[in-house]
Amino acid sequence: MEHHLVLEDLCKSFGDVQAVKNLNLKIKKGELITLLGPSGCGKTTTMHIIAGFHLPDRGRVILNGEDITYLAPYKRNTPMVFQEYALFPHLTVFENVAYGMAIRKVPKNEIQEKVKDILEQLGLPDIATRFPNQLSGGQQQRVALARALVLDPEVLLLDEPLSNLDAKLRIRVRYEIKQLQEKFNITMVYVTHDQEEALSISDRVAVMNKGVLEQYGTPWEIYYKPKNKFVAEFVGETNFLQVEIKEVRPSDDGTGASVVDFLWQDRVFSTSVEDEGLSPGSTRTLLLRPEAIEPVGRDEEITDENTISGKVIDSSFLGSITRYRIDVGGEEIVVDDSKTKEHGVFRGEVKLKLPWNVHFL
Ligand SMILES: Nc1ncnc2c1ncn2[C@@H]1O[C@H](COP(=O)(O)OP(=O)(O)OP(=O)(O)O)[C@@H](O)[C@H]1O
Ligand SMILES: [Mg+2]
Repeated sequence: MEHHLVLEDLCKSFGDVQAVKNLNLKIKKGELITLLGPSGCGKTTTMHIIAGFHLPDRGRVILNGEDITYLAPYKRNTPMVFQEYALFPHLTVFENVAYGMAIRKVPKNEIQEKVKDILEQLGLPDIATRFPNQLSGGQQQRVALARALVLDPEVLLLDEPLSNLDAKLRIRVRYEIKQLQEKFNITMVYVTHDQEEALSISDRVAVMNKGVLEQYGTPWEIYYKPKNKFVAEFVGETNFLQVEIKEVRPSDDGTGASVVDFLWQDRVFSTSVEDEGLSPGSTRTLLLRPEAIEPVGRDEEITDENTISGKVIDSSFLGSITRYRIDVGGEEIVVDDSKTKEHGVFRGEVKLKLPWNVHFL
């Protein structure tokens, strides 16, 4: 079967608020997908529909080819891990993890074995007899994961599971989640509003905005080939340049790409593009990520035609990069430079090299 979980044309309103609008998503077995978007865009509502906590107004949820839209939550084996973990405070770690199986009347010795095994897998064997309030945030989070994983979930739903952890721990646990997901080949739907988290762990990212799916693609596609301004801005810093397309011709490198000449700031630049439907004479928005632009010193000899002069407005040294705001003929451009160690922080006039491969909106 091609797709493990399919969301078909889901709609859900609360009063006048359309929380989810005509949402279509297809998820393969063993894939980790994230729902990424700002607060209120419908991520949790979508998860609740998958889990069976909400019925959609329209549309279907299909798991393994079977319509489960109206199936009770406890019959669909799609456990959800919440931001606040929701562990039972009066039960020990062991009892918390065992709870779901006990309800399903799994034999005691099997429960014993499975809980022991999953706690070991998650590096928690020594805390089985503790209560949740005797655990760190990271440990509680892992217990919540263990509690869901022990059920061999069809689909594991994680709603902002890391937002209560500090920055370093968040990064560590997100890699652990990714490793578990690969090891057990679990289909996971992961909710976050942190773009870096989404890009780093997902097989595919679904970017949502006001209940609408704006784009569904690999992290690479979402970052380098965003479909619109909302997606481009949501997944990172971006420069949008209004340019005029002058000429489009086939590239002679045999890749099927095109070379396009475009006019910006009264200058003609050339770049390579894949099929982006550009026509000469049209005005288009060119997307430039800050790290794609290379600043070089004013006095540096360069022959590259794709270079333009600008003036540093301000700079912030962030360690791995220096972030500049640069004035280019009255337009403000954000540029990230990763070579500060070599040439120091630029001031005053700089030259900017535009990349040979860009994306137009
Ligand atoms: N039970 C409810 N009753 C009324 N309105 C609701 C209910 N649940 C959600 N909403 C509304 O639906 C919209 C989507 O909410 P949802 O919780 O899905 O957003 P979200 O993307 O998870 O946001 P966040 O990142 O803040 O968790 C919001 O406008 C919210 O106020
Ligand atoms: Mg939410």
